[in-house]
Amino acid sequence: MTPIISIRNLTKHYANGFEALKGIDLDVEKGEILALLGPNGAGKTTMISIVCGIVNPSGGEVLVGGNDVVKNFRATRTMIGLVPQELTTDQFETVWNTVSFSRGLHGKKPNPAHIEKVLRDLSLWDKKDNTLRQLSGGMKRRVLIAKALSHEPEILFLDEPTAGVDVTLRKDMWRVVEQLRASGVTIILTTHYIEEAEEIADRVGVINGGKLLLVEDKAALMAKLGRKQLILELTEPLEKLPEHFAGNGLSLEQGGARLVYNFDAHNEQESIAALLTRLSADNIHFKDLSTRQSSLEDIFVALVGGAK
Ligand SMILES: Nc1ncnc2c1ncn2[C@@H]1O[C@H](COP(=O)(O)OP(=O)(O)O)[C@@H](O)[C@H]1O
Ligand SMILES: [Mg+2]
Repeated sequence: MTPIISIRNLTKHYANGFEALKGIDLDVEKGEILALLGPNGAGKTTMISIVCGIVNPSGGEVLVGGNDVVKNFRATRTMIGLVPQELTTDQFETVWNTVSFSRGLHGKKPNPAHIEKVLRDLSLWDKKDNTLRQLSGGMKRRVLIAKALSHEPEILFLDEPTAGVDVTLRKDMWRVVEQLRASGVTIILTTHYIEEAEEIADRVGVINGGKLLLVEDKAALMAKLGRKQLILELTEPLEKLPEHFAGNGLSLEQGGARLVYNFDAHNEQESIAALLTRLSADNIHFKDLSTRQSSLEDIFVALVGGAK
């Protein structure tokens, strides 16, 4: 299938010479939810802004629905809904007008029934006649989402959508995201909340220092990089491991008081049982046992830390 977004060797130098993107390659398939994880300053907003045609690329190419985002700005922008990180909306307009106007800006005919649905889905209906300055921060953010959905985009970008929002809004937001996904909308969100990516995304990309370190199917990523550990607190510290235990993912820590076994998630039952039997046969006993599985968070920290 042709990707709905195709990014090739994308670079961005800001006017002050700062290199915010250093050659990004990424394909996004229609209908998927991709989470872009990365610390502050990684280049997430820059990348999204280029795809949305708000910031010009310095090099490379971005196609949305087969159209170049620079040369065919109008065509690509109409396909995209953007929920920006910052609030930038006329404070004196009403919710209804702001959202309806946004639809018009993207060249779509008025459709009050659609605007009503969007406002109801985001629990904004009873605020439709309020001006934005009368709304709380959370409500304003709902308006940003409503604006992004006003023109029925095929692609929705959510830039740090849940940074500093309350639980109710977060839940509403994910419900809307689920509905959109069910209707075939492609969703790209940036976040530094790893649990969020873990929960909602089909694929996860990790971006740091202007580079895309990896993009993987979430489950594959967990399987590939997620290590499991069995930790045994030994009754008697060991000076060193007996020869026949060497090189099997076993190591001693804490002056020999702890035996750590890094194992593969595929045949864990058998190998752990076998290991415990072998230890016991060697008169190595333990007083406590625990297991640890690396989370997406561990993986993320390891990757981002390693890239510095
Ligand atoms: N207009 C700009 N001029 C110069 N540097 C910028 C500009 N916008 C962003 N940057 C820098 O580019 C880097 C990436 O920023 P950004 O894309 O906002 O990252 P993220 O969204 O991942 O936090 C940061 O170091 C930021 O300071
Ligand atoms: Mg950002």
